[in-house]
Amino acid sequence: MAEGSVKQDRPRRTRANGPDSMVQPNPVDNQRMDACVREPTLVGPHQDGERAAIRAVIFDVDGVLADTAALHVEAWRSAVQDAGIPFLGESADSLRGLSRRASLERILGSRPLDNSLFERILVDKNARYRKAIAALTADNRMPGVTGFLLELEKLGVKTAAVSASRNAKFVLQRLGLNERFDVFLCESSEVGAAPAPQRFTAAAGELRCVPHTCVVVEDSAENIRFARQLGMFTIGIGERKRLENAHLIIPSFVGVTPTELFKKLEIAAN
Ligand code: BG6
Ligand code: MG
Repeated sequence: MAEGSVKQDRPRRTRANGPDSMVQPNPVDNQRMDACVREPTLVGPHQDGERAAIRAVIFDVDGVLADTAALHVEAWRSAVQDAGIPFLGESADSLRGLSRRASLERILGSRPLDNSLFERILVDKNARYRKAIAALTADNRMPGVTGFLLELEKLGVKTAAVSASRNAKFVLQRLGLNERFDVFLCESSEVGAAPAPQRFTAAAGELRCVPHTCVVVEDSAENIRFARQLGMFTIGIGERKRLENAHLIIPSFVGVTPTELFKKLEIAAN
């Protein structure tokens, strides 16, 4: 895949080789799913009372396609502590989706830090993180995601992978998912350096889908909020207490099918 914003002319979709390529999507546990559906507060997509068909799914990378959020946190913890700065575990979740710089600023809080040490920690953290992600394989894909992507393909639903990370392309390569998406936008792309809402809008544009036909799958509560403001459907991956603003919350892709999720989303948004 070429560097930067990539829309493959003809999406080449590799067959999944990963462990969960064997996973058959289970029937949705309706009770569990119902419990996850949020109040119908979406504005925009359904103002005219008509249901819009979902045509595209925009996936975040870190914390959604693989649990790299944990690797980011571990790299921060060791880099910061080696520099003699305490790392507070409770800040880990609040780092999801933040840029490298913004992450360090959040870790430091009001603590003053010399510019050169700030820059050195950024470099050190990235080196540690790169080492960790170099060990990723298809086994590290988010559980169930391989089958979920195959189902989307069968349904003719377009897909994008978007990320704030300059390492996202490498992560996708390690996971064997770099040829899997119709569109890939990351921090290294022209638009990728922009805040999350611009990335979502750009991905929808490249997929030629209007926002209210797109679903954003995210592990960051803030990015879920942005996607909702754009009139997109949202699925939060992770803990319910962190992601309450999402239309739907799932712990992983295991046991869920796109068809069932889309039905739930459209009900939640009407
Ligand atoms: C996001 C992660 O995807 O990318 C953040 O959720 C991370 O934790 C950000 O800080 C930037 O990543 P990188 O790899 O460019 O430092
Ligand atoms: Mg994320």
